[in-house]
Amino acid sequence: MVFARSAALLALGGLGGLGWAAPVEVRDDTVSLDIFNRLSFFEQYAAAAYCKSNSDSNSTGTKVTCEEQNCGSVEAANTSTLIEFAHSTETDATGFATTDMTNELIVIAFRGSKSIDNWKANLDFQMEDVTFCSGCRTHSGFLESWNEVQDGVIKAVQAAQAEHPDFMVVITGHSLGGAMATIGAAALRNIDIPVDLYTYGAPKSGNDEWATFLSGTDKGESFRVVHKDDIVPTLPPSVPFLMPYAHVQPEYYITSGNKVDVTRQDVQVLADGDNGGGDIAAHLWYFNRISACDALFDLKAKRMVEDLS
Ligand SMILES: *[C@@H]1O[C@H](CO)[C@@H](O)[C@H](O)[C@H]1NC(C)=O
Ligand SMILES: *[C@@H]1O[C@H](CO)[C@@H](O)[C@H](O)[C@H]1NC(C)=O
Repeated sequence: MVFARSAALLALGGLGGLGWAAPVEVRDDTVSLDIFNRLSFFEQYAAAAYCKSNSDSNSTGTKVTCEEQNCGSVEAANTSTLIEFAHSTETDATGFATTDMTNELIVIAFRGSKSIDNWKANLDFQMEDVTFCSGCRTHSGFLESWNEVQDGVIKAVQAAQAEHPDFMVVITGHSLGGAMATIGAAALRNIDIPVDLYTYGAPKSGNDEWATFLSGTDKGESFRVVHKDDIVPTLPPSVPFLMPYAHVQPEYYITSGNKVDVTRQDVQVLADGDNGGGDIAAHLWYFNRISACDALFDLKAKRMVEDLS
């Protein structure tokens, strides 16, 4: 039932019906070198969330490493994980939080793969009211995942902040992990913990008020990265009143192809971006093979998109 409904919505979207906004192709500007470096650095933290050694081994207090060698800049930093989670009971939210002494950061990273089944279970894309901001509604499945881990994450961050009050807090994630990170950013900003948010190939996670709150900059900045025709940022389809999903802005839009190095010239900053397309391969390539540590991720992502199309 829900599958059929989603397919119908996608078909409407394809015809430009019911409020599915056409991709905005405004070439606002090329990204600055500083932000380009940050986008590529925090991508490596998002990639590290896919690696068992960081999220899935009950090894708090160890260094962040990537067995697929796709997080060299993170491995070069002096890190020590504060909390690792992969065994939440209901939704299997997965990720870690760590200190980074070298870059003076407290970083929280989520991966997407484990929650794909949960997302599929929520294909009707129901939204729920949240108290993080006025009028805000967010996807109930992502919210449930965040709720399962929030106590542990917030405690870990506050303890690290007590020890390192000058460290910046950053939250990041790829795919559904990006949606989790977005909810985490809203929750932390709501309790006056400033946090910068970096997402890669994230779906939309809430309504207009939600997107506007997260696009504000007084308690941290938000960087939403989309690679070319990545299919996931086009989801869920927006339907006025029923499912008014909107994107956090600005969008950092990577225009280069799959499996090639990304240069600064390849990244545009769009004040009101809504890019994406029909490509799964583009979802798997953000500066490098972002989900490389999870051998099953490609398959899970393909299955998810097949179910949705
Ligand atoms: C980690 O701890 C959880 C909860 O105690 C347990 O279920 C799980 O098997 C452990 N995982 C590993 C890899 O040791
Ligand atoms: C990493 O940071 C910890 C905590 O400050 C410190 O004790 C340790 O010496 C550092 N390690 C390196 C290799 O710098």
